[in-house]
Amino acid sequence: MKTVTVDASKAYDVLIGENLLLEAGKIVKERFGLFRVCIITDDIVDGHYGEKCVRSFVDAGFSVEKIVIKNGEESKNCENLINIVNTLAQMQFTRNDVLIALGGGVVGDLCGFCAATYMRGIRFIQIPTTLLAAVDSSVGGKTAVDLPAGKNLFGAFWQPSIVICDTKTLDTLSDEIYSCGMAEVIKYAFIKDAELLERLEKDSISREEMIERCVCIKRDIVAEDEFETGLRQILNFGHTIGHAVEALSNFELSHGQCVAIGMKIVTKGISAPEKTVERLENILNKFSLSTKCDFDTESLLDKISRDKKRVSDGVNVICVKEIGEAQILKLDFDSIRRLIDLGVK
Ligand code: GLY
Repeated sequence: MKTVTVDASKAYDVLIGENLLLEAGKIVKERFGLFRVCIITDDIVDGHYGEKCVRSFVDAGFSVEKIVIKNGEESKNCENLINIVNTLAQMQFTRNDVLIALGGGVVGDLCGFCAATYMRGIRFIQIPTTLLAAVDSSVGGKTAVDLPAGKNLFGAFWQPSIVICDTKTLDTLSDEIYSCGMAEVIKYAFIKDAELLERLEKDSISREEMIERCVCIKRDIVAEDEFETGLRQILNFGHTIGHAVEALSNFELSHGQCVAIGMKIVTKGISAPEKTVERLENILNKFSLSTKCDFDTESLLDKISRDKKRVSDGVNVICVKEIGEAQILKLDFDSIRRLIDLGVK
């Protein structure tokens, strides 16, 4: 098992290893004692791991509740947020009790925001079951739900008490969902870790080490800029345009797929060296991530102008010209228009 300690406003460990779910109850009891827990999960993850997770905590002596939401981005909404906190209140959940996010990014973000707001904040545990959640969304404390006006517009920074990543749970992911997580792994390689890219290209890295490397990059960034006033923005490489593509597809394209398209458009659009663009396209293709964008520049710009990363007269766009060296560029909308025109070709 690998342990990465995140030193944010609250310090916590990210544990990464095979079959940790069965141990989760024991691990949590040893570190934090006993209390009531409520597992928040979705119907698909529940089918695979709900019972195992309940057993792990019950066997360790916890009193366990479970709330199951429908799988998918459309569940990350205010209605589910209010339903969950109402249920917690009806169950007389106290400030001493703990939520557990068992699932991918949607479950983690929603559960985290419930934890951030219920009784002005209670503890929560992340148990990511997708690669995307393992390498990105379970770490760093971003929690939110979506609003009709856009993704993640209603949320809070709220750090988990521990992240327990059982790499065995990634075995049941479809190829498509796994690829979605690989888009975030590739993002880390491009913004901070040229060696990771080389090892991905050569297939010379284990899954566990790959996750650990990404979490270590995120740890360093979050330790320096937890609340995204500067450096943390580089984690949004590919995301500003990616979120626009995601919204225009009515969330039919996966988040990772859209980030892949966003990374390619921005890299080509800022005229990064040909070799950088080529390596990006090749590695995305290797992990079955298309770079083709079916939406026109004006539609993308319209969505980007509503993005929460918007600043008064433009948007901060993350660019990578040399692999491992991300830059934050503040671009006005005319410059972004030109960038997209060039990047989609
Ligand atoms: N997913 C980007 C971040 O946590 O900042």
